[in-house]
Amino acid sequence: MSSDYRGKFITFEGGEGVGKSTQAMELRRFLESRGVDVVLTREPGGSPGAEEIRHLLVTGGTDKWCAMTETLLHYAARAQHLEETILPALKRGAWVICDRYADSTLAYQGYGQGQNIDKILEIHRLVTGDFWPDLTILLDGGVKLGLNRARHREDLEDRQTREDRYERMGEEFHQTLRNSFLDIARKNPDRITVVDAEGGIDLIAGHIAQVICDRFFGK
Ligand code: TMP
Repeated sequence: MSSDYRGKFITFEGGEGVGKSTQAMELRRFLESRGVDVVLTREPGGSPGAEEIRHLLVTGGTDKWCAMTETLLHYAARAQHLEETILPALKRGAWVICDRYADSTLAYQGYGQGQNIDKILEIHRLVTGDFWPDLTILLDGGVKLGLNRARHREDLEDRQTREDRYERMGEEFHQTLRNSFLDIARKNPDRITVVDAEGGIDLIAGHIAQVICDRFFGK
């Protein structure tokens, strides 16, 4: 499906606080240094309408949505994001780097919140036409350190706008997520590359740049 577009679609996945946003920015810098037109975006969100839906998902009580509503809200945001941001960019030949995409729905709503995986995949086909990334980088790192980093980040934000709903779901939930992402990676070895997130920023960025070169630049 994504081969219909001229640009490449690359996603970052992983648990809380593993450094996805930092590495997404590092990758943008690396690609731009090679003359690539890059759009850096995120989910949930990444377009005006999708950001409104994001607010419903990342704030408030941890049990305010049932698993199906939560799944559908993520897919409502994703439909809007694809339409407004991702597909137009890919069509004009830009490369899109996205901080989270559908693997997060499989891990969080599927493995984590108990939504049936086949149903999520069915919704994925219906909403996106079975649109998957050309490459997914799964950053894998320790849950405790990641949650602490994410919580520290949230502490710096205003109480009213804190986006910590998922972080408050508890350590056990987040340990399940780590294993879930690794399981999803094992099932999709051609699309997903696992990168060890426990190292310095430059070391990890170098590893990711190598993966990109091997995959897309032939060296
Ligand atoms: P962020 O903190 O990486 O911006 O993501 C916001 C939260 O949304 C994060 O805790 C993971 C969660 N999430 C899901 O539960 N399902 C999804 O499909 C996506 C994209 C994110």
